[in-house]
Amino acid sequence: MEKYLITGGTPLVGEVEIGGAKNAALAILAASIMTDETVTIENVPDVRDTNVMMQAMESIGAHIEKIDRHTFKINGSRIHNQVILNEGIKKIRASYYLIGALLGKYKNAEVPLPGGCHLGTRAIDQHIKGFRSLGATVNVRHGSVIAHTDNLHGSHIFMDKVSVGATINVIMAAVMAEGRTVIENAAKEPHVVDLANFLNSMGANIKGAGTDVVRINGVQKLHKSEYTIIPDQIEAGTYLMAAAATRGDITVKNVIPKHLECIYAKLNEIGCQVEESDDAVRVVATKRLGNTQVKTLPYPGFPTDMQPQMTAILGISQGISIVTESIFDSRFKYVDELTKMGSDIKVEGNTAIITGVDKYTGAEIAAPDLRAGAALVIAALTAEGDSVVTDIRYVQRGYEDFHLKLAKLGANIQLVEEDDEKKPESVFTAVVS
Ligand code: UD1
Repeated sequence: MEKYLITGGTPLVGEVEIGGAKNAALAILAASIMTDETVTIENVPDVRDTNVMMQAMESIGAHIEKIDRHTFKINGSRIHNQVILNEGIKKIRASYYLIGALLGKYKNAEVPLPGGCHLGTRAIDQHIKGFRSLGATVNVRHGSVIAHTDNLHGSHIFMDKVSVGATINVIMAAVMAEGRTVIENAAKEPHVVDLANFLNSMGANIKGAGTDVVRINGVQKLHKSEYTIIPDQIEAGTYLMAAAATRGDITVKNVIPKHLECIYAKLNEIGCQVEESDDAVRVVATKRLGNTQVKTLPYPGFPTDMQPQMTAILGISQGISIVTESIFDSRFKYVDELTKMGSDIKVEGNTAIITGVDKYTGAEIAAPDLRAGAALVIAALTAEGDSVVTDIRYVQRGYEDFHLKLAKLGANIQLVEEDDEKKPESVFTAVVS
């Protein structure tokens, strides 16, 4: 088990290169097996979730050649069955993309129910509704989703909820269906657009991705492609938040600034200076920041995946702030950890009422999930004294070289192996001394 040892109090300053978007990569990797030809994918982030996805693809016969750390050649022509038995896949949410990809190409899929972060109820009824509407039989048995069809046909589907996962999954299942599919109330997130662009580069005919109506004209087959994944909106946003929280000056490079507007608009509102260029965004904070109200919403609203990081900042900003989580029903578990650091945050239902304190104080804290883990690291970077962040396997699911990138910006952070035999107290004492 690994953990971070962090000594807070240093403003983070400098430039950081942003990698490929994890959530786009997971969908694109799954979709890459929808052709018998070889697909080259660049800018794949080297994080736990993408590695687990590729292992699951290999377990059913996909051939994956690593060209360099972020580039892979994938060939799905030797896929011999559509039953995913891989244990690791149960831990990631995006396992469900293999249902859409396998059903779309092979008309058959058996995939364990998705795992991922525990953010409350995470139903997949809209995915199943979409698959059924396209003509598949879908059942959940013994913990797996089992989907089968003799023939997928186009359909008009109205999503009851705006769902990133369901939109992407139904697009994948529909690209080779007979006729035309229309998805209404579709999600508009950048990774939905990236997945559609990737499939179009393979010969699919998808229009309207990025709006709430997506139209897909089924094609007979898909072909080879070379594709570069978009930069990660949430990784970039996390570093911008780290700049704001530590009163630093960080430029995130290799980003699409448009995707970050919904994030940096809030930082600007509470007193940060923001500069945008073609492929970079700089955030500078020189003073204690102010209060605000934030409500998470589907894109282009404020992303739920930035909510914990924003709360961590508001916890040490002036005045009373309100953060409302409208996407997931249990996304404030990390607040107990911030309390250990001296925060004053009350959670009522899906709303956090935050009274800003002067500063956090170092503590031993545990990451409850991926983005909350990042938020706790940010809090520790601002705190007086030393902190230990445990359970960082969650953070490693979605941030490549997190501690190294932060250290390059001046953070005092180390990744250490936790010896299971060793008492946590002794490690903590060693850090403090
Ligand atoms: C994706 C992202 C995740 C992000 C989330 C919202 C991936 C791998 N994960 O998750 O990081 O936080 O989008 O931007 O891309 N819902 C249903 N029925 C469904 C599907 C969803 O009720 O069939 C509900 C969910 O419980 C949730 C809301 O709709 O309350 C949004 O979920 P969704 O957009 O599907 O999120 P994910 O695809 O799981």
